[in-house]
Amino acid sequence: MNVLVVGSGGREHALCWKLAQSKKLQNLYCAPGNPGIGSLAKCVDIRIDNIPGLIDFALNNDIGLTVIGPEIPLSMGIVDEFEKAGLKVFGPSREAALLESSKAFAKEFMRRYGIPTAAYEIFYDKNEALSYLMDKKFPVVIKADGLAAGKGVIIPKNYDEAKACLEEIMVSKVFGNAGNKVVIEEFLEGEEASYLVFVDGANIIPMASAQDHKRVFDNDLGPNTGGMGAYSPAPVLNKALENDTINNIILPVVAGMAQLGKKFKGVLYAGLMISSDGPKVVEFNCRFGDPETQVILPRLKSDLLDILIACADGKVDTITAVWDARPAACVVMASGGYPGKYANGKEIKGLEEAVSQKETMVFHAGTAEKNGAVVTNGGRVLGVTALGDNMRSAVDNAYGAVSKISFDGAHYRKDIAKRAFNR
Ligand code: AMP
Ligand code: GLY
Repeated sequence: MNVLVVGSGGREHALCWKLAQSKKLQNLYCAPGNPGIGSLAKCVDIRIDNIPGLIDFALNNDIGLTVIGPEIPLSMGIVDEFEKAGLKVFGPSREAALLESSKAFAKEFMRRYGIPTAAYEIFYDKNEALSYLMDKKFPVVIKADGLAAGKGVIIPKNYDEAKACLEEIMVSKVFGNAGNKVVIEEFLEGEEASYLVFVDGANIIPMASAQDHKRVFDNDLGPNTGGMGAYSPAPVLNKALENDTINNIILPVVAGMAQLGKKFKGVLYAGLMISSDGPKVVEFNCRFGDPETQVILPRLKSDLLDILIACADGKVDTITAVWDARPAACVVMASGGYPGKYANGKEIKGLEEAVSQKETMVFHAGTAEKNGAVVTNGGRVLGVTALGDNMRSAVDNAYGAVSKISFDGAHYRKDIAKRAFNR
């Protein structure tokens, strides 16, 4: 089968790396891809939001399955359009993707189906939000309703900070129309974990758990990023809590979405807070996590293409996924200055030496090719990933590979998986 992956980050590199191992695979394409992906797939220069262009490509190249990485095309309805064109595609419809693309929809859905999450209110007007906040205990969490590239969540410590934040989101519209509505919710205490499942509309296949590291600096300091690293499994999610998550969160979501006529197919990603009264949903994503995918897929022993086809066909109940017991860790090497301003075009050295280490994968996120060299081309540049016999050796292996790679201004966290070690 010919397969097309849509996207260009570390997540898509990990998807291509795993799909390339499938016996069913004939030709692998990625739009637009990156230089790392280019060693596994043929990169085609079509933007992720050019849905007609992607459909044309799939029709002309006998693509049997298209796998959508990022949320933007999903929220635009790429799956609906592909299906209308008679093409098989992995991902949720636009209506099902509302779980990620509208935080207000997700919260109302969870209230309706009794899914554990932070208490909240929705506001369309800044002054109403402010009067609600008058007598509230801080911190609270303020979220722009729509997609904001992971930046739409602010945790003000007092009323004045909340006021400034509402001004930015609802009046200055720093996130555009994503800020037409805001959700204000209770601040949850606990440890976070990412729990992802494959869904075919009715049935699920759980993936190995993971935890990412959202803040830019060690000890969870500094601003939020797209994710500075990840590890799998997340020991905070023990077997009992995992069952609790499946029974009280994942299955009710899948059933509820089907009942609303918004059947969910694809990856359902629950961002969880493991609170003193069990797992609560912080957010849903309707796609693979980045960088969680970089640690989850190296642990998947089964054929990923089989699973993705079964999801698209509504036949997940015929498949089981086998997971490697060995943990995986991923260290993101970022450009100096990220998530603020940073420079592109810095030559990356040591890539070959790093990947020659056993059980090590260097997934490209923000890279480009320039005069035959690989250079930086984004905030998050590489996801350096390794397996190990235990978490300590996975982490040591990943940092061992990191030490072989260099580029001007490279920044990475030194404390990946620290929470797992602290347990
Ligand atoms: P999100 O984009 O919704 O994942 O939010 C980004 C980050 O904000 C999460 O990973 C959490 O660290 C934090 N966050 C979001 N909602 C809450 C909440 N209700 N309580 C505490 N922290 C939260
Ligand atoms: N790692 C967080 C995300 O993929 O949204």
